[in-house]
Amino acid sequence: MKRIVILISGRGSNMEAIIQARDAGCLPGAEIVAVIANRADAKGLERAAAAGIPTRVLEHKRFADRAAFDAALAECIEAFQPDLVVLAGFMRILTEAFVRRFEGRLLNIHPSLLPAFPGLHTHERALEAGVRIHGCTVHFVTPALDHGPIVIQAAVPVLDTDDATSLAARVLAQEHIVYPQAVRWFVEGRLRVVAGRVQLLDAGAPAAALCVPQPD
Ligand code: GAR
Repeated sequence: MKRIVILISGRGSNMEAIIQARDAGCLPGAEIVAVIANRADAKGLERAAAAGIPTRVLEHKRFADRAAFDAALAECIEAFQPDLVVLAGFMRILTEAFVRRFEGRLLNIHPSLLPAFPGLHTHERALEAGVRIHGCTVHFVTPALDHGPIVIQAAVPVLDTDDATSLAARVLAQEHIVYPQAVRWFVEGRLRVVAGRVQLLDAGAPAAALCVPQPD
């Protein structure tokens, strides 16, 4: 079994999508061993607990600095002996020491087509820039913010009628598809990083690869 730890800061809808994928049998060989939040009021904690997944809260505000928090977070994660750490709306900039410790087994989802629009307020910035296509990216985490080998992306059209809310909703629906997909590929051992690019091994296995629950 591949052991997965999920980190959240809030709503946890991407975490939920991964739990649903597991429940639908789309993540064979994977076990979600913990959900850890940096905020006690993270809504996703309730859902994780309801799903019977152990939860932990490590409030960053209680630590003197970023390095101290990241060190404690790393210890908390390591206690669950994960094969994969999934950042699912975990709104913290991570120290290089933390990233190096989990390098190669640390995935993030970002609500833009990276390398466009790293950082915050991606949907507002996409609208301001007038792009016609927007989307989301799952990538391996490197020390540079919202940067790293790209596993999968999904694109959506930007409509003339969009505001940030409608655009975010269209992107989020895609996040809920591609993140379980990326996790599945990782669990299956099908992701290899070569010269900063992700190779999908055995790409001729699309039927199983597309086993993800459809969004509501
Ligand atoms: C998602 O849109 C995710 O892509 C984004 O936060 C949201 C979390 O939603 N992550 C980032 O912006 C990270 N830089 P969720 O808590 O419902 O999954």
